[in-house]
Amino acid sequence: MKMERLQKAMAEAGVASRRASEKLIVEGHVKVNGKLVAELDTKVSSSDQVTVDGVPLEREQPEYYLLNKPRGVITSAHDERGRKTVVDILKEGGVTARIYPVGRLDYDTTGVLLLTNDGALANKLMHPSFEIEKTYVAKVKGLISNHDLEQLRHGVVIDGKRTKEANPKLLSVDKQHRVSIVRLTIHEGRYHQVKKMFKAVGHPVEKLTRESDGILNLKGLPGGQWRELKMDEINALKKL
Ligand code: URA
Repeated sequence: MKMERLQKAMAEAGVASRRASEKLIVEGHVKVNGKLVAELDTKVSSSDQVTVDGVPLEREQPEYYLLNKPRGVITSAHDERGRKTVVDILKEGGVTARIYPVGRLDYDTTGVLLLTNDGALANKLMHPSFEIEKTYVAKVKGLISNHDLEQLRHGVVIDGKRTKEANPKLLSVDKQHRVSIVRLTIHEGRYHQVKKMFKAVGHPVEKLTRESDGILNLKGLPGGQWRELKMDEINALKKL
């Protein structure tokens, strides 16, 4: 039976990062099979009963899914207002693990979204220091100029802070309907970042899709569909 360090098992179950789990252990919050443990070299297997402040650790096999998120669903595990969530989509397809989305896409944004129950990997990927490259395609109002593209490239101020260097590329313009299609690669994940960036240069977003998130992309995955990640994709994410 696979034995692993207690703090690793806690991080994998999504309790907290490995470092924060170590703190919980030494501060006396954690019991294994009913006995308080305060040592960091404790190893546990899946048959050991671990509790944190009396709450049992949910230890499932890690599962990883890629969803091409459709419009009109919430990026969350549940919604107080009863709206459909990305997790509902996978549940309808038979997934029973307690997965949740890694990062977020707006209600009306489509595209690449990773879902997993691997808390350690999720914590890692969401950490701002990773600066994972994300590519979006936006349909925006108006005709984008070279000057607008330069501004997007060098950074625009949103919420009082300049965005980091980005990579915009004009894909097409429709002069008749006065809209432009732009691909934009960014390395940050600030709240509503892409919509705010385009708004800052005077071109509000009408439609937004995330084409890729790091190594994950939409190839072969139609809108609203999902698939399990392949072993090489999981390994690549873990190696980051
Ligand atoms: N930027 C946005 O504005 N919205 C998203 O959903 C993703 C990135």
